[in-house]
Amino acid sequence: MSTSEPAPVCPVRDFNHYSELPFGEKIKIYDELREEAPVIRNEFANGHYIVTRYEEMLSVYQNADVFSSTAVTVFNPNPAFRWIPEMLDGDEHRQWRKQLGPLFSPKFVERLEDKVRQRAVDVISKIAERGKCDFMHDFANQYPSFIFLELMGLPFEDLDTFLHWEDEILHVSGEPEETARRRAAATVALTEYFRKIIAERRESPRDDMISKAIQFEVDGEPVSQEDLESFCILMFMAGLDTVSATLGTTFMFLATHPEHRQSIVDDPDLIPSAIEEILRAFAIVIPSRKAMEDTEIAGCPIKAGEMISLPLNAATRDESAYEDAKVVDFERGSTNHIAFGAGPHRCLGSHLARRELRIALEEWHRLIPNYRLAPESAPTESGGQLGPNSNIHLEWEV
Ligand code: HEM
Repeated sequence: MSTSEPAPVCPVRDFNHYSELPFGEKIKIYDELREEAPVIRNEFANGHYIVTRYEEMLSVYQNADVFSSTAVTVFNPNPAFRWIPEMLDGDEHRQWRKQLGPLFSPKFVERLEDKVRQRAVDVISKIAERGKCDFMHDFANQYPSFIFLELMGLPFEDLDTFLHWEDEILHVSGEPEETARRRAAATVALTEYFRKIIAERRESPRDDMISKAIQFEVDGEPVSQEDLESFCILMFMAGLDTVSATLGTTFMFLATHPEHRQSIVDDPDLIPSAIEEILRAFAIVIPSRKAMEDTEIAGCPIKAGEMISLPLNAATRDESAYEDAKVVDFERGSTNHIAFGAGPHRCLGSHLARRELRIALEEWHRLIPNYRLAPESAPTESGGQLGPNSNIHLEWEV
């Protein structure tokens, strides 16, 4: 008779998933956690649960009555702010989504095609002449910022200011107190900037997203000034770093896998499937939810008020959902992956993100088809999502 203890339903770990690690290490840790159990109790950050497998994760995303979006970082189950629409639940969320939907439709996004492509060509042609670049600094961080300004109807001269706020809010690292101070100062400045723009658009509306959002109503009332500011902040948080990090992940992969790179140079029609496959295999976003009642996931009891982390990469690399899930195969065909999330909060910007990524890959590989990772590259990743922060140096012959 075996005397060994049965495996615990939710094994306990202490994993600081915000720590700075060499790029690629965190995804390996999530792969190991998935092998271990469908739900892990993580003692880090006041304690929370990590869901590690596709089926359980999908059901949490789809059960928004029990798993609320009103708290979206595991550090903070009772935030004093609410980003819109990400941190709304129920009917209020549905009303915002209904009005935002047309502004993110494929047809609407198509209007940006020419400007986005021209911008990509301008930036990449300049980089091409140099024979080398710091990829995140020279391209991946600024390209989505330009598109964001275009989408929101903001002046292009503000690009450098936006890039500075982006660094301060999303990429600053160092001593925790100093980091928090700089992040808070930049968030205040960004909020003031949007407050001024909203006031200007109220006076003289234009054909842009902020002017349209001013017209929105919830329960028959115009949305408040505070909610409009929260919407603008969320757009900044959701639309910039996700695309930069996905570009970083994509070019790290292509620069170190010459056969995959060559396949899209030889056949650019393969680019949309290459993007889907990279989004799937290295899904960067790690949303969280708050349990609104005592519940359980895969037999693991969870109390009302507990936070749950839902690392999408753990689901999109789950062998039970995708054959050879860790293999990157540009010919895989449709996978219906959930790198853009699932359930009522599924990414509103997915059509825009796909277009940004497609144009970037098409123009880059047309202008710089043969590049490799330079030896001084040492990318790391830190913070609330996956993806390299900096230090991707690419080089090529000119
Ligand atoms: C490759 C790039 C992107 C990825 C991987 C991504 C991923 C995601 C994910 C996983 C969510 C769901 C979060 C949750 O469940 O809590 C989300 C939400 C959202 N995303 Fe994206 N996103 C990307 C780009 C964009 C862009 C370019 C925009 C717009 C400019 C955008 C706008 C939004 C918005 C507004 C939401 C909130 C939706 C809601 O709460 O109803 N995203 N995104």
